[in-house]
Amino acid sequence: MVAVSGKRIWLDGRFVDWSEARVHVLTHTLHYGLGVFEGIRCYKTADGRSAIFRLGDHLRRLYDSAHINLMQVPFSREVVEEACLEALRQNDLPEGYLRPLVFIGDGEMGLNPGGNAIRVAVIAWPWGRYLGEEGIQRGIRAKVSTFSRHHVNAKMTKGKTCGDYVNSILAKREALLDGYDEAILLDTQGLVSEASGENIFVVRDRVLATPSTL
Ligand SMILES: Cc1ncc(COP(=O)(O)O)c(C=O)c1O
Repeated sequence: MVAVSGKRIWLDGRFVDWSEARVHVLTHTLHYGLGVFEGIRCYKTADGRSAIFRLGDHLRRLYDSAHINLMQVPFSREVVEEACLEALRQNDLPEGYLRPLVFIGDGEMGLNPGGNAIRVAVIAWPWGRYLGEEGIQRGIRAKVSTFSRHHVNAKMTKGKTCGDYVNSILAKREALLDGYDEAILLDTQGLVSEASGENIFVVRDRVLATPSTL
């Protein structure tokens, strides 16, 4: 793993130097985990141009995630979309990964964030194959996790929420400690849900199948 670095980060409406994109230690999301984010890939296509995979769909989910978590994003989708494009340009990335993040700033503490500012960052950095080039060549070893995916009554399961990833981190680390590359998580009924940071697809008799999102 290589530490992530780059040139410029979009933070609350403007680009700042990478090293200037800092937050206060009382940032609410840092304490309680209520924030939402997306992970979006930009690929170089055969004709040499760059193409972002389903940028509109990802941003729609970002805004939906914020909405169902009762966070109002203080920028329009168009503004954040432009920030995504510009983040790739400003960091000289013809291909790479985009991370829009909506989080609750500092101010009030306690579980009700009250009037704390909703803050938005867009970060871009290079990111190779998620499970490594070797994983693509040789395949990976995965184990069924002892951790279950969150039950629908426990939190907003349709949202991509920062704090939910504690569950993923625990499952991932358990798998690595047990000598595997990745964890497969079941839901609380025991049905296959997804892996710690990726979806699961199966090809059977030339038919592609994946767990339902309903
Ligand atoms: C838990 C989890 N599932 C699935 C995915 C795959 O991405 P998407 O939800 O955009 O299909 C990711 C990617 O970040 C993830 O973290």
